[in-house]
Parts: sequence; C-alpha cells; structure tokens
Amino acid sequence: MHVKRIGVVGAGTMGHGIAEVAAMKGLEVSIVDISWDFLNRAKEKMTDSLQKIFSRGGIKKSPEEVMSRVTFSTSYEVFKDKDLILEAVPENVDLKRKVFSSIKENAPSHAILATNTSSIPISLIAEGIGNSDRVIGMHFFNPPVIMKLVEVIPSKYTKPEVIDETVELAKFLDKVPVRLKEEIPGFVGNRIYLRMMQEGCREVEAKESTMEEVDSALRYKVGLPMGIFELADYVGLDVSLDLWNVIVNSGSADDVPCSMYKEKVSSKELGVKSGKGFYSYPSPGKYKKP
Ligand code: 3HC
Repeated sequence: MHVKRIGVVGAGTMGHGIAEVAAMKGLEVSIVDISWDFLNRAKEKMTDSLQKIFSRGGIKKSPEEVMSRVTFSTSYEVFKDKDLILEAVPENVDLKRKVFSSIKENAPSHAILATNTSSIPISLIAEGIGNSDRVIGMHFFNPPVIMKLVEVIPSKYTKPEVIDETVELAKFLDKVPVRLKEEIPGFVGNRIYLRMMQEGCREVEAKESTMEEVDSALRYKVGLPMGIFELADYVGLDVSLDLWNVIVNSGSADDVPCSMYKEKVSSKELGVKSGKGFYSYPSPGKYKKP
C-alpha cells in the first residue's frame, strides 16, 4: 500500500476517530484543527478510547505507543509529507472548499485529497480546486473505531488509481469498503437510514406506535444495534436534518423531513451532544442507552 502517512483536518468525533483507526494500524497521522482546545479534547478522547480497546485485548500496543504516532497542529504545513489528507470538518460547502485550497497548497503533488462528507457532492469540492483528479469521498460512520463500513465515492474527475488506492487503504484499516460507481445523493448507507427514519416518524406521528416501540422493533426484531430514534440522537439531529435536506433538495427523494425532527432541531434538542433529543441523556456528550 502506498499510503503510509495521513493527515486529518478536523479533530471532532469523525476526525479523531479516523485518526485513531489509522494510528492503531501503524500509520503516522497528523491532525489539524483551528484551536488547541479542540485538539486537546481530541487527544483525551482518543486516549480514553484506546484504553478501552486495549483493556479488552483489541490492540496489543499500549495506548501511549499508538498515540506516539499521532501529532497535533494548527498549521497545514504538517501535510507536506503526507500521502493522503482527509477532511472531516462541518458540512458546509464553502468551508470545505476553503479547507481543500489550504490542503492543496501544502500537500505534495501525489497526495490523495479525501473528504468524509456524508452529503456534499464530491465534484463540487473538486471544482473548488480546479477540477482536481485527486479528490475523492471516503465516508466513515460513527463511531469510526467500531463501524466497519467505508463508502468510497469518486467525483466525475477522480482518476482510477486514486479510487483503487482509497479502497486499498480502507481494507488495510480493516474496514469494508463499498465503492460507488458515481456520486449519488446520500450515497448508499444514509439513503437507507433516512428511509427508515421517515417510516418511523410517520408511524409515531400517526400515533400508530410510540418511539420506544419503533426502536424496540428495530433492535429486537430487525437486529440493529440501535433503534432509529436512538441512532438519530447519537448522530445528532442537526446532522441528520442537514443530510435529509440535501437528499430532498437533490430531487432524489419525495419525502420532506418529518416535523418531529424540525421541531427538535429548532428547540436545540440535538440528541446526545445537547443532553436531550428524542430521549434524555444525563451527561451531555456521553451516550448511554436510553
Ligand atoms: N472507542 C472504543 N470502544 C468503543 C467506542 C469508542 N469510541 N464506542 C463504543 N465502544 C465499545 C464499548 O467500550 C463496548 O465495548 P465492550 O463490549 O467490550 O464493553 C462496545 O463498544 C459496545 O459499546 P456500549 O456498551 O457503550 O454500547 P452499545 O453496545 O450500545 O454500542 C455502539 C454502542 C457501538 C455505538 C452501537 O450502539 C452501534 O453500533 N450503534 C449503531 C451506530 C451506527 O449505526 N452508526 C452509523 C451512524 S450514521 C453515520 O455515521 C453517517 C453520518 O454520515 C451521519
């Protein structure tokens, strides 16, 4: 595999989780964010998570040894020796385009420029840096250290070897890559996720079932690790609503986001991170089965 050194932009849940996965596999990783507050918080969360994985035998190397492969910085200059840089900043096209310009200025000419976007067309990002053929979607799922799926999404400009190397990297990280032929709104996983959400909301709004009943059916009949309302809280209701809007606006789904969702987001009940969403969480930011 050609990718040995990785850069990550964005130290949030996805960014630090992906960095952790790469470091566990022996790759060198540099994480860049705009503030040391975010970076220090990421370092703490990665160390806690590695501690959990180490204590149940999931890794042989100690958390300290894994963390010694990770560096933190507020400067994009650390990307000058990287083979792949992955962006995991909030879902805003202008922000992502700005981030990609800075990455391109600092990365070597062979580097793959990947985005973890869950909804923005990859071609839009590539067009922001001159239709680059090195831009690709590499979409991980939350939590990245546990979830196996990685969607690999080419833009209309991506060259075939960039797709192949990204798939190879996903496999090296012990993930299961799903390679899309072209970019479709919501890619594969999130389209299905929103369809389930739509049906769950419809049943609850029509008072045919309660939220708890829908979630129990999904957990104990369908066998999902979380029901759909629990999962929405876990992912963040604002994140899910953005995703939903992108899919609806693309014209590929005829359903509008359900009103329960919109009400929760407008009253800032965003799920686990705010302490309340569809369910309540005693320690905001910490998931505990409702
Ligand atoms: N680091 C290390 N270990 C972790 C961890 C982390 N970040 N998160 C969970 N774990 C471990 C726990 O320590 C525990 O280990 P143990 O069994 O040895 O004690 C194990 O995972 C199970 O965790 P919990 O006991 O805390 O709770 P659960 O059994 O409910 O598992 C969960 C939590 C792994 C999140 C599970 O509920 C799950 O898989 N849920 C579905 C998640 C999902 O579908 N994600 C996709 C969201 S959509 C998305 O991301 C797309 C985006 O574009 C919007």
